[in-house]
Amino acid sequence: MASSSCPFYFLFFSSCLLIPISIQSHVQSPEKHASLFIFGDSLFDSGNNNYLKNAAGRANFWPYGETFFKYPTGRFSDGRIIPDFIAEYLKLPLIPPYLQPGNHQFTYGANFASGGAGALVETYQGMVIDLKTQLGFFKKVEKQLRQKLSNTETRTLLSRALYIFSIGGNDYVEPFVTNSSVFQYLSKEEYVGMVIGNVTTVLKEIYKIGGRKFGFLSLLDLGSIPSVRAREQNSPSGLMKEATVLAKLHNKALSNVLKKLQKELQGFKYSVFDFYTSTTDRIKHPSKFCGGESSMLWQWALQRNGSLWWKWDGSNKRVRTV
Ligand SMILES: *[C@@H]1O[C@H](CO)[C@@H](O)[C@H](O)[C@H]1NC(C)=O
Ligand SMILES: *[C@@H]1O[C@H](CO)[C@@H](O)[C@H](O)[C@H]1NC(C)=O
Repeated sequence: MASSSCPFYFLFFSSCLLIPISIQSHVQSPEKHASLFIFGDSLFDSGNNNYLKNAAGRANFWPYGETFFKYPTGRFSDGRIIPDFIAEYLKLPLIPPYLQPGNHQFTYGANFASGGAGALVETYQGMVIDLKTQLGFFKKVEKQLRQKLSNTETRTLLSRALYIFSIGGNDYVEPFVTNSSVFQYLSKEEYVGMVIGNVTTVLKEIYKIGGRKFGFLSLLDLGSIPSVRAREQNSPSGLMKEATVLAKLHNKALSNVLKKLQKELQGFKYSVFDFYTSTTDRIKHPSKFCGGESSMLWQWALQRNGSLWWKWDGSNKRVRTV
C-alpha cells in the first residue's frame, strides 16, 4: 500500500528562484479582468490537499508559508507559488483552493491543482485530485458561472481566461518511488504517449467549453529531484538518467501536441515556459540567480528518519517533506 510518506514531485521556491513568466494581457480593469483557471500538481496547489482525507502530501505545517503569508497555507512553498504571481500580474486576487469551503465567486477563476497529482488516474490514486477530476471540477464551476452570468458573459469570461498547467512530473516519478512494474511492459515512449494523451483529452474538453489561452510549465529535469536522487544513492540503477530521459521525451511530446492543436483548433493559443532549462540553470549556477548565495534546494536532499529534508535556501532553513 502506498504510505503517506511517499515523496512526490515537488519543489519549493525561495525568492531568488522566482521565475519571470511573461504572459500578455492588456485587460486590467475589474470588469474586464482575465480569469485564471489553475490545473496541476504541487507546484500550483494553493491548498487543495488540505481538504483531502488521505492526501499524498500536505504543506499545512511550519515553516511552509514562512516568508510571505506568515502561516502555512497549504502551498508547497515558503512563499507564493507561480499562479499567485500570475494572478498578481493579472490584477486578480490570489486564487483560493477550489476545495476550500465557503462561497466562491469563480469569476476570477479557480485553482484545482493538487500536490502529487498526475495526468493519469493511477498516479497516487485516492490521494490526489487527478487531472480528470480537476476537469470535472472545472465543469462544475462552468455550470455555476452560467447560473450567475448571461451566456454571452460566460462565453467571454471563459474565452478570455487563462488556463495554466503544471502536470506530468508525478506520473513519471511515482512508478519509481512505488517500485511499479509499469516500465517492464510499456516502453518509455508508450508511457509518455499515455500521459500526453490524457493531457490532450483535457485540453480539448476545455477548448470545447470555450477555453482558448493555455499556459504550461515544461517538466524540469526529473533526474535532479531529491526523491529520485535519494533512491539512486540507496541503490544505483541508472534511475536518475531514466527520469531525465522521461522528462525530455515528455517535453518534446508536449511541444508537438500543442503545435498540432494550434493547427487543428481555431483560436487555440498556448505558451510553454521552459522550466527544464530554467531550473537546470539554477541548479548548476545558483550564484548567477541568487546574489552569490548558493541556495539551490535540490542539492541537499537528505534522508532522515524516513523523511526527506532539504534546504530551501542558503541560510540553513530546512523543510520536511512527506
Ligand atoms: C522499493 O524498493 C526499494 C529498494 O528495493 C525499497 O527500499 C523500498 O522500500 C521499496 N518501496 C516501496 C514503496 O515498496
Ligand atoms: C489515459 O490514461 C489511461 C491510463 O490511466 C490510458 O489507459 C488511456 O489510454 C490514456 N488515454 C489516452 C487518450 O492516451
